[in-house]
Amino acid sequence: MDFTEQTSAKAVADSFANTPDPRLRQVLTSLAEHLHAFVRDVRPSMPEWEAAIGFLTATGQMCSDTRQEFILLSDVLGVSMLVETLNDRHEQAATDSTVLGPFHVVASSARELGDSIDEVGGGQPCVVTGRVVSVDGTPLPGATVDVWQADAEGYYDVQCPDTVPEGNLRGLFTTDDEGGFHFRTVMPRHYPIPTDGPVGKLLARSGRHPYRPPHIHFIAEAAGHHPVTTHVFVAGGEYLDSDAVFAVKQALVREFEEVHDPQQADRHGVTAPFRHARFDIVLAPA
Ligand code: BEZ
Ligand code: FE
Repeated sequence: MDFTEQTSAKAVADSFANTPDPRLRQVLTSLAEHLHAFVRDVRPSMPEWEAAIGFLTATGQMCSDTRQEFILLSDVLGVSMLVETLNDRHEQAATDSTVLGPFHVVASSARELGDSIDEVGGGQPCVVTGRVVSVDGTPLPGATVDVWQADAEGYYDVQCPDTVPEGNLRGLFTTDDEGGFHFRTVMPRHYPIPTDGPVGKLLARSGRHPYRPPHIHFIAEAAGHHPVTTHVFVAGGEYLDSDAVFAVKQALVREFEEVHDPQQADRHGVTAPFRHARFDIVLAPA
């Protein structure tokens, strides 16, 4: 049978028919069908096909140990959130997950409860408190809470290796006997995802803004429970309604209250006024 517009998808799918791994066979067959349907729909000219190859090549060339342009591409196409959503079959009561993002590339230093993750200074002081509990409310002592965030200028440590110490605004905490955790930081600010690569060009060409609303990342893990990768978002923050990577879930938005009480500030080792958010994390049993 000749390779034609009508037969192309089947020809390629059939070529994978003897793939021993059944899952890989299923993925490759589906890829052939959907990719060929897409190409038939778009009908690229040869220069357009070359541009597409050039875009993917540039995306790969942008990747390094500290830069993951393919994850960024997946993020702005909504694929990361779709995969996250498809895999998030947790119990209703458990904390929603959201994207990991490309900046969890450095292990967070272990820190004591109450420590500051800000090693540089600057920005509005902020305290985050919470508990890690199971869906029935049982506290989870000894759970780990990995946090990371951008600085007051909107950059992660790995984006400014010359000016910011590696590990700034990252921390790995272990919950106390009541499952509690608390740490000091600075208010997260909205920021643009990196725009100096092919993904940035894609956003610019399509008239999309690159901003993410203010947030702090979390990965919480506890024995006998499914871990969760999530964020807490700042209520009222800019771009909550138009996150460039589609990652906002309303259940993850929290008030970051302004606290003026000097005694509370003393207790947390900050100066008033400071902002305070409470973020409890509920894990589903494994
Ligand atoms: C982040 O929040 O770190 C992030 C997520 C997706 C794309 C870029 C950044
Ligand atoms: Fe982020």
